[in-house]
Amino acid sequence: MTSGTTNGNATLTITRPDDWHLHLRDDDLMAAVLPWTTRCFARAVIMPNLKPPVTTAAAAAAYYERILDALHPDVDFTPLMTLYLTDAMKPAEIERAKAQGFVVAAKLYPAGATTNSEAGVTDLRRARPLFEALAACGLPLLVHGEVTDPDVDVFDREAVFIERHLRLLLDDVPDLKVVLEHVTTRQAVAFVEQGPPTLAATITAHHLLLNRGAMFQGGLNPHLYCLPVLKREEHRQALVAAATGGSPRFFLGTDSAPHARTAKESGCGCAGIFSAPVAIEVYASVFEQAGALDRLEGFCGRHGPLFYGLPFNRGTLTLERRPFRVPAVVPAGTAGDLVPLAAGSSLDWSLVQPAARLVRED
Ligand code: DOR
Ligand code: ZN
Repeated sequence: MTSGTTNGNATLTITRPDDWHLHLRDDDLMAAVLPWTTRCFARAVIMPNLKPPVTTAAAAAAYYERILDALHPDVDFTPLMTLYLTDAMKPAEIERAKAQGFVVAAKLYPAGATTNSEAGVTDLRRARPLFEALAACGLPLLVHGEVTDPDVDVFDREAVFIERHLRLLLDDVPDLKVVLEHVTTRQAVAFVEQGPPTLAATITAHHLLLNRGAMFQGGLNPHLYCLPVLKREEHRQALVAAATGGSPRFFLGTDSAPHARTAKESGCGCAGIFSAPVAIEVYASVFEQAGALDRLEGFCGRHGPLFYGLPFNRGTLTLERRPFRVPAVVPAGTAGDLVPLAAGSSLDWSLVQPAARLVRED
């Protein structure tokens, strides 16, 4: 990491970061959102909750090809694919996926927990052969850690998942690498900090930036509704402490999850925050406010590759302390308009975008 100044503004140059949790969708929507990720991230772990979900090695291969086809030929970006676990999946599917080389993990959605999770796992105990296959292949299990029990308050679902399921899972399959995705509570932070070295967590930009009050400020803000839902301020502070504290167990995962504006601004708006257009700028602002800019590079570009056993990126990315005006709307062709996180507001850090850094170096 190097600091400097340009035109009197502070600059920060870090190893080009990765996004360890991203929803790219498909078709026109994918084409519209992909450049917002590739403008700064070198790799991203691509979530498999399409319709239908990516439940086979062949489907992961086809999706991988569609992403590569949607990339501008000069852009240096590697999609890291995932498999969507189901009750019906056989361990051999995991071995087939691993053998392809570009599948890096499998995603556990408790059935009904979130967007397009209906085909997810209904009983974690029955999925144990899949977890063992993952451990044997050295592939991490990425967990949407919320219970679906309707009797559990929506704000408690992550903390209850940890106590009811995650503890047992880690004990049952101790060799399995597990990423507790998009952690939102102080309980999750403490659990990860105290857990074995095989356990890590991603943290989103929006959960670092906002508490649950933001959803209701001046009225109901559907564009701030996501799952796990935003939590109280004490939890946000625990996330900031975890992200900025330097522990390699925590790394960047935006969970950028685009939905058309009409689907968000509806009688029953769907969950997901489209953060790709502002994510790196938000992370930089949060780290600066915590007095931890020197730890931004670890969180964005080092801890994830260390956990996944992948090399660090070779390129760099430069941020400048100059106001960044966030677009109010991002058009997405036939998929409609998207409203990004922090739409219309101004952030403290901007991306300096020398095209040469974002294209292939070899
Ligand atoms: O808010 C969310 N949106 N949380 C998820 O887990 C899924 C995601 C989506 O796919 O829209
Ligand atoms: Zn997600």
